[in-house]
Amino acid sequence: MNTFGQALRVTTFGESHGPALGAVVDGCPAGVALSEDDLQPALDRRRPGQSRLVTPRKEADRVRILSGVFEGRTTGTSIALLIENEDADSSKYLDLRDLYRPSHADYTFDAKYGHRDWRGGGRASARETAARVAAGAIAERLLPGVEIVAWVSDVADVGSEVDEAIVTRADVDVNDVRCPDAAAAAQMTARIEAARRDKDSVGGCVRCVIRGVPAGLGDPVFGKLDAALAGAMIGIPAAKGFELGSGFDGTRLRGSEHNDAFVMRDGRVATATNRSGGVQGGISNGEAVTFRVAFKPVATIFRSQPTVTRDGEATEFAARGRHDPCVLPRAVPIVEAMAALVVADALLRQRQIAGF
Ligand SMILES: Cc1cc2nc3c(=O)[nH]c(=O)nc-3n(C[C@H](O)[C@H](O)[C@H](O)COP(=O)(O)O)c2cc1C
Repeated sequence: MNTFGQALRVTTFGESHGPALGAVVDGCPAGVALSEDDLQPALDRRRPGQSRLVTPRKEADRVRILSGVFEGRTTGTSIALLIENEDADSSKYLDLRDLYRPSHADYTFDAKYGHRDWRGGGRASARETAARVAAGAIAERLLPGVEIVAWVSDVADVGSEVDEAIVTRADVDVNDVRCPDAAAAAQMTARIEAARRDKDSVGGCVRCVIRGVPAGLGDPVFGKLDAALAGAMIGIPAAKGFELGSGFDGTRLRGSEHNDAFVMRDGRVATATNRSGGVQGGISNGEAVTFRVAFKPVATIFRSQPTVTRDGEATEFAARGRHDPCVLPRAVPIVEAMAALVVADALLRQRQIAGF
């Protein structure tokens, strides 16, 4: 399955060390002002080689729009996006033809297909997410008045304090780790650098707030907005957990403590607190949509680990090549892009239902 969404459908293609990757976006209404310059800033935030905390692979990640835009506006036809791979070095991945990296996708791809592109992780590489980020930037063009901000909230054992009512992307981008709490960011950076020195990796969490989502998006039962967000987020490589609003901590409260009391605010029904994370019954309630995504420590590490070959023989594997010691800083724009795709898809479907 390489396609995501219903009203706004995104099909991605490409492998880590193939000639290019990209996306075809279908369902974008006609008449939306769109240029490559609208997409590039999001790709620049995701691309590798931005700081010493991430993989040194050098990719410009210049995106080209091949179709669906004429005279600066969308035509309503499919929008094809292309990003070329420029800095692939498959020589460091030769070991991966014949053995399975612990906790990566080598074994499961073999189990499923029996034939896999082992170069740089192939289709399982997070390079594929460049295409999602480009598509997400188109989705954001369909969401005037909606503001999506994600940041690194946790790295290993380090948490942070951030006011999600006011945090902006500019606040997030003040440091390389993308955590707007400066004291926490310094400790997170130290954890990532220590892991790199130890030829190891660390995980953490990205928190995201979506402000300005109107009440009424999402469908009951099988098309729930929170379920769509959970699927989108867990579909990001290395994502291992999702929680909406109060999430797992909310289980420790009683209903009387957890309930979001209804109040009137600015002439509309609102809630005094937002432990629901902006979604009730699978439908947005007009409050900010808030969630957190957990990412595991990167699987490919430079210290030796036991594994097995394709032939079932025990062996040792220590990575070569270029890898992120922590995916968190680069996961931030990916989370935002997937959130934009989910909300834009829900908005377009709501328009179909409402008939406007
Ligand atoms: C931004 C980003 C960068 C990543 N970089 C690496 C990497 O350098 N090395 C690696 O082994 N995994 C990396 N991953 C994770 C793998 O792609 C992922 O673990 C793999 O596809 C297996 O899937 P799973 O962890 O979701 O089960 C990265 C993920 C993200 C989101």
